[in-house]
Amino acid sequence: MSDPGIAEKLVEVLQRPDGDLALRPVHTIGISATGFFKPSPIAQNFCVADHFKAEKTDVIVRFSNGSGCAVVHDGWSDVRGMAVRFHLSDGTDTDLIAMTLPEFFAPTPETFLEFAEEAEPKLYKGESPWRKIANYLQLILPARDPYPGETISPDAGAIAFADSNAYSQLGVLQAAQIGAPTSYVRAAYHAVHTFVVTGADGTRRWVRFSWQPIAGVLSTNPAEPPVDDYLRAELKKRLAKETARFSLMMTIGEIGDDFNNSSRPWPPHRKRIMMGTLTLNAVPEDQTGLSEKLSFNPGLLTDGIAASDDPVLKVRIDSYKISSAWRGGAPCPFSES
Ligand code: HEM
Repeated sequence: MSDPGIAEKLVEVLQRPDGDLALRPVHTIGISATGFFKPSPIAQNFCVADHFKAEKTDVIVRFSNGSGCAVVHDGWSDVRGMAVRFHLSDGTDTDLIAMTLPEFFAPTPETFLEFAEEAEPKLYKGESPWRKIANYLQLILPARDPYPGETISPDAGAIAFADSNAYSQLGVLQAAQIGAPTSYVRAAYHAVHTFVVTGADGTRRWVRFSWQPIAGVLSTNPAEPPVDDYLRAELKKRLAKETARFSLMMTIGEIGDDFNNSSRPWPPHRKRIMMGTLTLNAVPEDQTGLSEKLSFNPGLLTDGIAASDDPVLKVRIDSYKISSAWRGGAPCPFSES
């Protein structure tokens, strides 16, 4: 049983000195776009949720940089987020929150709290060329050089933590190498947790969702980091000219896979179902109401999709509710409960 105050402690520890209390403590910089979702012809066989049955469902999507820094540094290596809200035919909503990391850093709220405390951004310590050579010889990846103007390292504490906590190694290694996408719509995003979907014949399946960009994944050249603030401008320009699309892929877990631990991958040959296509066609003018103040929640599910017993998924429901209240966001879907 988790400490009842842990959801709040997690939000506190995620806040950074270069953040802004009126904004999200993580995924601070972002932009929303609108569009619609169309299910694939087979989707409703696997999940009876409204958006897999309706012909078309309106969506709002918020793309973000994972960092809690309130200054835009799009070109710096960082995890990116994609939070999707589906407006269902009965007037209710359901959310699917995803990020560019395929696995999370920790299996439980308690271990994530330990991780987040250790991983707090630290001042950069330059790594000497000799240390780099010694690391290469020991097959240890050298630390990335700071970008011009980058004084605190988002990775140093996380890497030190991963040295002694094996469960965080996969997430930390992937995060340290993730880079920057050329566009928010040229990255793949993973919902990370396992959800339980119910099919048309009543069969329940333990699944993981991810969004694959139809334009393909394309990162910037790490040797030539682009200007600080290009992702929002790029999305506006792109959607003024053409649509951007993503496929929603659903991977079906099998017995023995980790259903309640999002820091562990599933074997790569699991069955994947194409559940539908998301089309984005506009960037709304009102980026205050429809991005900054919006409050997503990973627990906002609908009939046909249930949470697994992943304790991290459960704690996020309260953490997002608390965070939304603290930053003065639009009431989180769970604030009345
Ligand atoms: C215990 C684990 C986690 C905690 C405590 C946590 C905490 C938070 C908090 C406090 C926010 C800001 C919420 C708001 O003010 O509206 C946030 C946003 C976000 N988180 Fe997490 N998070 C966790 C795990 C994850 C995971 C596993 C993912 C990936 C699926 C994720 C992806 C995101 C994204 C994309 C956003 C931005 C959502 C938006 O645009 O509003 N987080 N997180």
